[in-house]
Amino acid sequence: MIQHIESFVQQKLSHDTTGHDWYHIDRVRKMSIHIAKNENVNIEIVEIAALLHDILDEKLVKNKENAKREIIDLLESLQYQDEYIQQIIYIIENVGFKGGNGMQMDLVEGKIIQDADRLDAIGAIGIARTFMYSGAKGQAMYDPNIPVRDEMSYEQYRNEKSTAINHFYEKLVKLIHTLHTDTARNIAKERHDFLKLFLSEFHREWEVKL
Ligand code: ADP
Ligand code: NI
Repeated sequence: MIQHIESFVQQKLSHDTTGHDWYHIDRVRKMSIHIAKNENVNIEIVEIAALLHDILDEKLVKNKENAKREIIDLLESLQYQDEYIQQIIYIIENVGFKGGNGMQMDLVEGKIIQDADRLDAIGAIGIARTFMYSGAKGQAMYDPNIPVRDEMSYEQYRNEKSTAINHFYEKLVKLIHTLHTDTARNIAKERHDFLKLFLSEFHREWEVKL
């Protein structure tokens, strides 16, 4: 069953260059399973929902309802229980860490995937993904004339300019405070410090301070 779901996801995300490629999915899956070992949860739901977690992202799919139907059809064709299918759909519809009006996730399996997804947005990989995303969206690397916003909704991101570096302040350095599990918080510490170090080096070089 897992192999069928893997191929489905690989085929959907194979052309992605915005930081949501298959290897992101695979890391989130591995990290989710690692976190899940310390929690009292259904690991199979965690793994399947982790594999599918970006498939309904409005940034990636054109028609969300079609994509949702495809997922339900796939899981039904694999004889997966209805109750679990519903939980998986609920998780992947609410997993995103969108600014502002993000709904509270109330399934522990979903919280674990949120933690794993957020961990992949910080540290060295998080830095790399942010510049991939910004490049793909045509944002500047940095522009001191573009102000840092407190919290940006996707609407704002569509209408207002931001930069890769601004995104660190608008979102990435705040992620450590949004984690649900101790396992994730422990892993986040080093990655968070690495972001801060990267930012201070970036600004030092930007100012040509020798
Ligand atoms: P998810 O993995 O839940 O889909 P996002 O789509 O919000 O998370 O972010 C995926 C990656 O793209 C992250 O590494 C994030 O830093 C980066 N990213 C998202 N929005 C922006 C943005 N406006 N500017 C720069 N990078 C972004
Ligand atoms: Ni993701």
